[in-house]
Amino acid sequence: MKIERNKSLKEHNTFGINVKATEFIKINSEKELIEILSMHKGKNIFILSGGSNMLLTKDLEALVLHITIKGITTNIESDNSALVSANAGENWHDFVEFCIHNNFGGIENLSLIPGYVGSAPIQNIGAYGVEIKDSFISCEAIHVASGTKKLFTREECNFGYRNSIFKNELKGKYIITKVTFRLTTKNHVLNTSYGAIEKALIEQNIISPTIKDVSETVISIRKSKLPDPEEIGNSGSFFKNPVIPSESFAELQKLHPDIPFYQVDKNNTKIPAGWLIEQSGFKGKRWGDAGVHIKQALVLVNYDNASGQEILEISKKIRETIKEKFGIVLETEVNII
Ligand code: EPU
Repeated sequence: MKIERNKSLKEHNTFGINVKATEFIKINSEKELIEILSMHKGKNIFILSGGSNMLLTKDLEALVLHITIKGITTNIESDNSALVSANAGENWHDFVEFCIHNNFGGIENLSLIPGYVGSAPIQNIGAYGVEIKDSFISCEAIHVASGTKKLFTREECNFGYRNSIFKNELKGKYIITKVTFRLTTKNHVLNTSYGAIEKALIEQNIISPTIKDVSETVISIRKSKLPDPEEIGNSGSFFKNPVIPSESFAELQKLHPDIPFYQVDKNNTKIPAGWLIEQSGFKGKRWGDAGVHIKQALVLVNYDNASGQEILEISKKIRETIKEKFGIVLETEVNII
């Protein structure tokens, strides 16, 4: 295991922010992870997975552990289900492709989400009507302070909208090493309710879609709206879609009759933050190398050499404007470091 010092993290975060880590080490196995933790007890440890949901605003005075543990195992459980486990360092989309190739259904709507398997449960990744909590069974994680292993069940993870116990009480305390899903092998339960998926399938005359059809449709929708981090630095949605009491929403709707919304339950309404940001005139705006994506206002972008601070400044401007204009406080989805 080689420790690299003063290491640039530009290639290790999808925003492409050029900050440095005091020490950086790639971890290829659970054994290596436990060894490193016991050798560096008490050190400031920073866990880096795919770097797809973070905005780095300063150099990291820490030992960065880049978790690249690979491997996928499958276990056919019954006539229509398989337990599929992936180690934390597997690329999420490659894992989805593996499942589709092997006809395991359940995560096809989550195609093309950047990042690694290990960080997927942390924010309960979701897209097009599906979240990982829907097929998640458990994950294994190593306790940073003691190096001991713990299995977390779905209930223990406390999943919510872009949220879990790993973003709250246990933030930074555990390193996820393996995630297990229960997926279908025959009678797949497709979720095509998201408008754009349905429309695209009809346009292609696909009446009985396969999981591959759904995956390909999701990929084309994502490509049409979301910037590819390989081309333009970004971390997907920068903010969460705010959920407000339905009574407040009714007031807002009187002032803005076109406001899109999703009814979460009878008391709560979710509003697309992208709409709020677009209405506030930010869509497509650019300040130097930092800006708001031209096709999706919820995505902040680094065109080339923006600093994390510059992106953070834009996010603050957006938050203040939305608060003034709509009385809504946006919560960031991306972790600000
Ligand atoms: N909208 C606008 N202007 C914009 C963007 C969006 O008016 O610039 C409005 C439109 O009315 C549109 C609606 O917002 O119909 C919803 O937009 P979209 O379908 O693009 O989804 P989103 O709510 O902006 C969420 C997730 C995405 C996920 C998509 C699809 C959050 C914070 N984001 O975005 O997740 O891919 O739905 O399910 O929940 C991510 O988490 O990084 C992410 C990309």
